[in-house]
Amino acid sequence: MKNAIPFLLVTGTSFCFLMTPNAAAIDVQSPDKSITLSLTMREGVPYYEVRRATDLVIAPSRLGVQLRNGPGFDKDLVIDSHQFTTVDETWRQVWGECKDVRDYHRQLVVTLAKKDKPSTRIEWVFRVFNDGVGFRYRIPKQEGLSDIELMNELTEFTMTDNHRCWWIPAYQYNRYEYRYTDSPLQKTEKVHTPITFKASDKLYISLHEAALTDFASMALHRRENNTFEADLVPWSDGVKVRGTLPIQSPWRTIQISETPGGLIESPLILNLNEPNKLDDVSWIKPGKYVGIWWEMHLGKATWGSGPKHGATNDNTKRYIDFAAEHGFDGVLVEGWNTGWDGNWIENGEKFNFTTAYPDFDIEMLAKYARDKGVRLIGHHETGGAVENYERQVEDAFKLYQRLGVRAVKTGYVAHAQNILRTDKDGTKHKEWHHGQYMVRHYRKIVELAAKYQIMLDVHEPIKATGIRRTYPNMMTREGACGQEFNAWGGEATQNKPDHTTILPFTRLLGGPMDFTPGIFGVTFGEYQPGNRVSTTVAKQLALYVILYSPLHMAADLPENYEKRLDVFQFIKDVPTDWAVTKVIDSQIGDYVMIARQDRNSDDWFVGAITDENARELTLDLSFLEKGRSYTAQIYRDGDNANWETEPYEVAIESKQVKRGDSMKMKLATSGGTAIRFKAN
Ligand code: NOJ
Ligand code: CA
Repeated sequence: MKNAIPFLLVTGTSFCFLMTPNAAAIDVQSPDKSITLSLTMREGVPYYEVRRATDLVIAPSRLGVQLRNGPGFDKDLVIDSHQFTTVDETWRQVWGECKDVRDYHRQLVVTLAKKDKPSTRIEWVFRVFNDGVGFRYRIPKQEGLSDIELMNELTEFTMTDNHRCWWIPAYQYNRYEYRYTDSPLQKTEKVHTPITFKASDKLYISLHEAALTDFASMALHRRENNTFEADLVPWSDGVKVRGTLPIQSPWRTIQISETPGGLIESPLILNLNEPNKLDDVSWIKPGKYVGIWWEMHLGKATWGSGPKHGATNDNTKRYIDFAAEHGFDGVLVEGWNTGWDGNWIENGEKFNFTTAYPDFDIEMLAKYARDKGVRLIGHHETGGAVENYERQVEDAFKLYQRLGVRAVKTGYVAHAQNILRTDKDGTKHKEWHHGQYMVRHYRKIVELAAKYQIMLDVHEPIKATGIRRTYPNMMTREGACGQEFNAWGGEATQNKPDHTTILPFTRLLGGPMDFTPGIFGVTFGEYQPGNRVSTTVAKQLALYVILYSPLHMAADLPENYEKRLDVFQFIKDVPTDWAVTKVIDSQIGDYVMIARQDRNSDDWFVGAITDENARELTLDLSFLEKGRSYTAQIYRDGDNANWETEPYEVAIESKQVKRGDSMKMKLATSGGTAIRFKAN
């Protein structure tokens, strides 16, 4: 029940209301006073800046909004009033990286009015947390304005120097699926968020947005020197956002931390989202799955019909048997429905979401799975033909619900600005994946899925902005280069050894990722002699702890797991729902070590991974419970392991440990260590 996940504790909300005809500067500080946001007016234009202690984090940066045929909320403004509030409450996640989340912030709401027409107003809302800042604008209902077309948001983020940063480009062919570039910020032009900066050894900053709801997503355009401007992704006609007043923007977020790991631990994005809207969440269950998937990417099988069709009755039963034997919750089957033959990326309108290929008996297989305590995981690849999908999706969800399918993976493979939209008068338009049209589509599907008690795993998604808090059936998504990139074009597409040491500080700050780790056959032998995964096998295990996802796949072929059941044990044991997450040590792009406590037992799990450099890390076990002993089940790179020449060697060891002990970990080149601390 919704009420079963209430606010646990509300320690106080207070506010005061001030009339300020035109103040010089209004400051709002984080509860611990470490972060200060200041708002100033300069000749009718609002500016904000952010400091942490004495360090400037964001230099004075402009705020403003321009409408078509409406008043400009960009100049000739005066402060009409402002108001402070403090909130301190703790809420419980349905699932996640930690069980309870404290939302402790100070809020400032500033109402600006047009100098020559005081009834024309815009409100800016700022929330300052101990881990950063969020702000948004609201255009309230007002005389003479109703339906608006927002043409431009002028929000700036002026960084204080040419910081080192990690980023991917926006408005490109492959959506969000690019390798991260590590460069000085002046090498950027138009980028997606999150973009993460190292301002100094003691100052890390990440820019993103939270609660992207019926709005264009925000890319960032570096206009000059160190200043980024909000670059709202337009509709095909150039309008950025359409709406009827009142409207509000998503939160623009600035996460700030002394350590890179602090960015991962920060719940700021979730705190800026609305509480859970679903009454009954009993059907929402994190878990692990296997699937008829990697064999298509390797070329062993096909999505389309023919002699190599992957989604056959026999093959699906083989995966269901494997899942049942090893305790997996779900079996994903791609290529089960008609529409895959020919160029499915170009012909997405041919997909039918309720008709199976003749060699896939969906009723029989769904029952076969259920009888073994396993569920099929549904698959809806749309090819980006969302009109075709929207026409069928309700029937498709009904079918799945009747068959006991609880999770559906969706897909939107279409390139660049290639999502077809038809106007009421029949005119065709092409839209971006991250414009308002698609933000609306993705949200519609999340809400409809909830109606049919379906959890979602979205590939080629809109970026993650924390809406999983509001709709906890929005489990996980892709939105970055996942494992599949290793199976395609050799060097040109393969993820490099440092890729997974960047993802936790960039893409995953937005939310969980369906990366699909767990490839044991890291060189692909007969299927693809030229391709491989650029890691050791032990690193593949550690990724289950490093890259958070409430639904994690064991992505490899069952036959590869059957050869290494001793190593596979870690994937069987690792949970996907956590009580506590602590980043023990990390450097962006170099290495990451994370400890997480299982939400359903007293066990802890640790993952550590490194880039192309071998390294030794120290794990201090001060997180373990005092007075308790644990059996550490260690899966580490073997002594000769090395991702290029000896990726397969995994050493498995066991030892007794307790709080206060420390462990040395030796990671091979692109290697890793995964440990289960089993509470005795
Ligand atoms: C791209 C997805 O990321 C991948 O996982 C899927 O197998 C293909 N599309 C086909 O839907
Ligand atoms: Ca993809």
